[in-house]
Amino acid sequence: MSGQQPIGVFDSGYGGLTVFRAVADLLPQYDYIYLGDNARAPYGNRSYETVYQYTLECVQWFFDQGCPLVILACNTASAKTLRTIQQKNLPQLAPDNRVLGVIRPTAEVVGAYTKSRSVAVLGTKGTVQSGSYEIEIRKFFPDIKVHQLACPLWVPLVENGEYGSEGADYFVKKYLDELFRQAPDIDTILLACTHYPLLLDKIKKYLPTGVTVVSQGEIVAQSLADYLYRHPEMESRISMQGGKRFYTTDDPAEFDSHATIFFGDKVRSEHVHV
Ligand code: DGL
Repeated sequence: MSGQQPIGVFDSGYGGLTVFRAVADLLPQYDYIYLGDNARAPYGNRSYETVYQYTLECVQWFFDQGCPLVILACNTASAKTLRTIQQKNLPQLAPDNRVLGVIRPTAEVVGAYTKSRSVAVLGTKGTVQSGSYEIEIRKFFPDIKVHQLACPLWVPLVENGEYGSEGADYFVKKYLDELFRQAPDIDTILLACTHYPLLLDKIKKYLPTGVTVVSQGEIVAQSLADYLYRHPEMESRISMQGGKRFYTTDDPAEFDSHATIFFGDKVRSEHVHV
C-alpha cells in the first residue's frame, strides 16, 4: 500500500461492513481499508478495558498502514473508547491523524425523525451501559426522551447467519415487546449496532405501525462527506483510486463467505495480526 493513504473503517467483525457499504457508495473516489477484528468479536459484552485495548491496537494497525483517518464503524468501540483515544492516545500516537465514531453523527440527526420526542436506542450491552447515546442526544435535543435497551442475542444471531431464522423472529419480538411495554409512545428506533440492519425485515415485522427505524449507514456516510468538506487539510491527504481492501484478524475464507451479505458485494480479504 505504499504511497496510499486510505480511509480506515473498523468494526469488531462484520457489522461495520453495513456502514462501509454506504460510505463507499456515497464517496467512491477514495481508497479504503476495512478491518474486522473477528478473532476477538463480539465486543458487545466485554469490559471497558478490553474493548479499549483491542480498539487501540486496531487503530494503531490502521496508522501503520498509512491511514490518516479511521472510522470506528462499531457502536460498542465508539461508545467505550472514542473519547479516550481522541484525547489521550492520538496526541502521542499521531497528532495529525483523526479517529471518528458513529454515535455523534447519529445523535445529531435523530431529532428530525421523531414527532413524539420519545426515541429508543437498541444496542449491545456495552453501548447501552456507556450511556453515550443519551448523553449525545441530550446535547442536541434536550426535549427528547431516550429509552435504551440492550439486545445481547441479536449480534450472535447475525454473526452465526441466523438472522433469517425462526429463532431470530423469537428474539426480535421478545426485545421489541419489552421495549414497547416500557414506553408505548416511542415513534423512532435507532439501530445503534452495525449488525442490526441485517435484522431489519424482522424488526419491521414486529413494530407497531407508525414507528420509524433508523439505520446508521447513510447517516455516517453523509457525516463523513461533510467532515471531509469542512477539513480540506485531511481530504487532501486521502488517496483517490477508488480501492477497497479487506482484512480480518480471523480466517479470511470464513470472513469472505459471511461478508457479502453485509457488504452487498463480493469480498476478498487477507488475514492480519494486530
Ligand atoms: N457491530 C458492533 C456495534 O456496532 C457490535 C458487535 C459486537 O458486539 O462486537 O456495536
